[in-house]
Order: sequence, then structure tokens, then C-alpha cells
Amino acid sequence: MKKIAVLVSGGGTNLQAILDAEKSGIIKSAKVVTVISDSEGAFALTRAENAGVEAVCIPKKSADFETRLIGLLDEKNVDLIVLAGFLSILSSEFTRHFEGKIINIHPSLIPSFCGKGFYGLRVHQAALARGVKLTGATVHYVNEIPDGGRIIAQKAVKVLPGDTPEALQQRVMKEAEHVILPQAIEDICSVDTAESEGR
Ligand code: GRF
Repeated sequence: MKKIAVLVSGGGTNLQAILDAEKSGIIKSAKVVTVISDSEGAFALTRAENAGVEAVCIPKKSADFETRLIGLLDEKNVDLIVLAGFLSILSSEFTRHFEGKIINIHPSLIPSFCGKGFYGLRVHQAALARGVKLTGATVHYVNEIPDGGRIIAQKAVKVLPGDTPEALQQRVMKEAEHVILPQAIEDICSVDTAESEGR
């Protein structure tokens, strides 16, 4: 059973999708052992507590933010770190320290509408401004380039006439993010589990 840490900053709907997938059996090779927020009061922490999962806040403004984050993750000896609505940019030292063990969910079909400054509603505003007919979500490995790591999974979502950024964001979250992130976690952890158990 692989151990997962989920890093959050806000509402935590992606975290909720992961927790629900554990319950429904979509995720059976891994377990969330800690949820860490860079923002106090993030509702994601409440979701973790409601699910009986350790919920920790390391405020992003604290001087030793990354040191504390690395320390906690090392102490938990997690197998996978999932950035789920996590907004802090992690240093290259951090991504090298956990090379190949960090994944992120981004609310567009990378390489469109990604990189520095593309997060949350801004992504959907850019997609609507460009007039794309399809958008969606991407799960990718995290390296030192924002949204630059190897792509793991993608799911397309139609842009509908009259879509507002908010409506598009909700549909991308519901129809794409909350589907491909849990599945990607299971795909990654089940392979590793099989290998480690010699299957
Ligand atoms: C969503 O737009 C998600 O795509 C992005 O962060 C936002 C909030 O996610 N990664 P959540 O509800 O906190 O999981």
C-alpha cells in the first residue's frame, strides 16, 4: 500500500475526489496519510479532518516553509506527493529532492494555457479568450519548470456557447480533474506496488 501526501491551498475538491476514490475502490493501491496546506483556513483541511486524515498547515509566508515541508514529507516517507489545487511554486531543490515522486493536476490540456501565471480561473479565462472549442485537464509529473514535467493523463472537455470562466472551471473540475487525478494515482501506485511485491 503506497503512502500519499496531498498538498493543497484552497477548497480541496480534488482532494475530496481522491478521498472518495479511496472509499469507492478506484484507488486501492494507495492511502492518503497526510494533507498539507500552505494556507490557513483552507477548506481542504476540513475535508481531510472529516475523513480522519492528518491535516497540517505550513503557512507559505513562514520563512522556513520549504524546509518544514521537506522535513514532514521525509518523516512520513511518502511514496507520492500530489499537488491538488496547490498554488505555491516549489523550488528546483524541492523538485530534485523528490524527483519523480510529485504529480500535479492542471486545469487545461498542456501545453495550452499553462506555465507561470496560469492557475485557477485565469486558465479558463485564457481558454475562452482564445476561443478554443476543447479544453480539459492534465495530470503531469512536476519538475523545475512550472507545468513542464512529463504528461501522465489528459481528458478533454467541450467549451459550450455562453460559457463563463466559472461555469467552464466547474465543468473541467467535475468532468476531467476529479476523474483523471484519482485514476492516475491508482495507475502509478498499482504499478509500483506490483513491482515492489515482485508481481
Ligand atoms: C482548480 O481549478 C484546480 O484545477 C487547480 O486548483 C483549483 C482548485 O482546486 N489545480 P481544489 O478545488 O482546491 O482541488
